[in-house]
Amino acid sequence: MSELKYKRVVLKLSGEALAGEKGFGINPPVIKKIAEEIKDVYNEGIQIAIVVGGGNMWRGEAGAEMGMERSQADYIGMLSTIMNGLALQDNLESLDVPTRLQTSIEMKQIAEPYIRRKAVRHLEKGRIVIFSGGTGNPYFSTDTAAVLRAAEIDADAILMAKNGVDGIYSADPNKNADAIKFDHLTQKDLLEKELNVMDSTASSLSKDNDIPLVVFNLNKSGNIKKVVEGKQIGTVVEGK
Ligand code: GTP
Repeated sequence: MSELKYKRVVLKLSGEALAGEKGFGINPPVIKKIAEEIKDVYNEGIQIAIVVGGGNMWRGEAGAEMGMERSQADYIGMLSTIMNGLALQDNLESLDVPTRLQTSIEMKQIAEPYIRRKAVRHLEKGRIVIFSGGTGNPYFSTDTAAVLRAAEIDADAILMAKNGVDGIYSADPNKNADAIKFDHLTQKDLLEKELNVMDSTASSLSKDNDIPLVVFNLNKSGNIKKVVEGKQIGTVVEGK
């Protein structure tokens, strides 16, 4: 086993990460590959909680832009994250990784309700806990849910897995050839430079609680492991 920089982490997976190139729905080989990567890190003995997004099925903001009432649209988004959570749980358990799925909106027939102390106990017992349903409130992103849960369970870091982008840049690297990649940023930089990594609610919560954040490319095999081992990949955001 390698030396670990972090012992308990929240891994934030976007819904799009599960969709693969199609950009919509759940792509079985893609989710299986992600589950295998997570298993590799789990085998290192690290405590892992996962917050999963839902953008591969529905985006609350897009619904609102189509004229739907914003809260209503956001609730559909929350349900998407629960569907993704179930799929992820299934994939991890097919690899013999013990998991518990919790929902921020009670749905007892399907999964456990979110109970902070129970989540922590599950982690201590070596289970991966998947937090689904976002924060359970409209107007909040799953990035905010990731920061909130990380603060609640006293995680050492939030691992923000990105699709194809390998860290935080001064501008969108796909549109701007002069974009510079940052290796390190402070929480204040993240908020003030408006780098569009997370929405401002998530960034301020992260700054207020000073939970280290690592933004990295999920599409490169072995990257999650490199992050927990403290190897310099992606961008590390820490310190006020
Ligand atoms: P400990 O016994 O405390 O170590 O944890 P445990 O999760 O193994 O025990 P528990 O008896 O709470 O749960 C057994 C199984 O039932 C687990 O797979 C849980 O995820 C699941 N479970 C627990 N509570 C609920 C619930 O409210 N709804 C659903 N659908 N499943 C639940």
